[in-house]
Amino acid sequence: MSLIRIGKDVLRFMQRNDPCWCGSGKKYKKCHMDFDARIDEFKFNVLKGQVRPPHSIINTPADIEGIRKSAVINDGTLDLMAELVKPGIDTESLNQAAHEYITSRGGIPACLNYEGFPKSVCISVNEVVCHGIPSRKTILKEGDIVNIDVTTILDGYFSDASRMYIVGGKTSERAEKLVRVTKECMELGIEAAKPWHFLGDIGAACAAHAKANGYSVVTDLGGHGVGKKFHLEPFVSHDTKPDTGMLLVPGMVLTVEPMINEGKKEVEVDSGDHWTVRTKDRKLSAQWEKTILITETGREVLSS
Ligand code: MF3
Ligand code: CO
Ligand code: CO
Repeated sequence: MSLIRIGKDVLRFMQRNDPCWCGSGKKYKKCHMDFDARIDEFKFNVLKGQVRPPHSIINTPADIEGIRKSAVINDGTLDLMAELVKPGIDTESLNQAAHEYITSRGGIPACLNYEGFPKSVCISVNEVVCHGIPSRKTILKEGDIVNIDVTTILDGYFSDASRMYIVGGKTSERAEKLVRVTKECMELGIEAAKPWHFLGDIGAACAAHAKANGYSVVTDLGGHGVGKKFHLEPFVSHDTKPDTGMLLVPGMVLTVEPMINEGKKEVEVDSGDHWTVRTKDRKLSAQWEKTILITETGREVLSS
């Protein structure tokens, strides 16, 4: 039996034969009853900031199917960007191509008008950490390192991923290494995500690899739960201690999206557009992002 929240602040115990809180339509005993019992077994250590995941961020198989379909469009957009990124192209042209790709497949670019963001995708070049605004005036040149971050909504389901692109295919050894190590940070973070373990394991794995390579980890921004909304609990920091934060359980969907700086971790938001985030020291920054699902046995990548 488990205490659940119905509506705003009414709490009551679920009965075995009640319909499950997840919305599957199945009886509680045949659906999430054992799952709740397993969470209840945990002695959450408050000193480590360990918390139980709210039911609201647990996705049903139907939700996961929805996110999967959204991710097909999202990944296709990122593939298309690989074909278009080349010296001389401006980032507004890339934005328009991404917009057209998503909308012609029935999707909605989630970034467009999100809290006033003016474009359909974020394009962040060199010292821009994230939230770069596509513009006719930003013309890519050989050796630039570029992050394109795409979020698609399809039938109400969000998928979110970003990749780095090297303009013209070659750059300095130092930029190439930053891009490669940042990807490895994301991959190590994803491998560290396990059901019935804690969220902090992800950031611990990302940060250990970044710091071993002499880089710093941005902590002002991070990953997030995603699925029925763009940004959900939990906030995913990429520099954490193992065994801390929220318990990871099957059905949770979240992003791992480390922003790694070659210099100091400090960032600043552009005072003119209120969006573009740059490194304070104007050294390079890189980011990769995937949307992952926590499964019974590990994790599965949904969008990359
Ligand atoms: N896609 C970004 C993320 O990974 C969020 C961009 S919000 C926007 O969470 F408004 F800048 F588009
Ligand atoms: Co993103
Ligand atoms: Co994200």
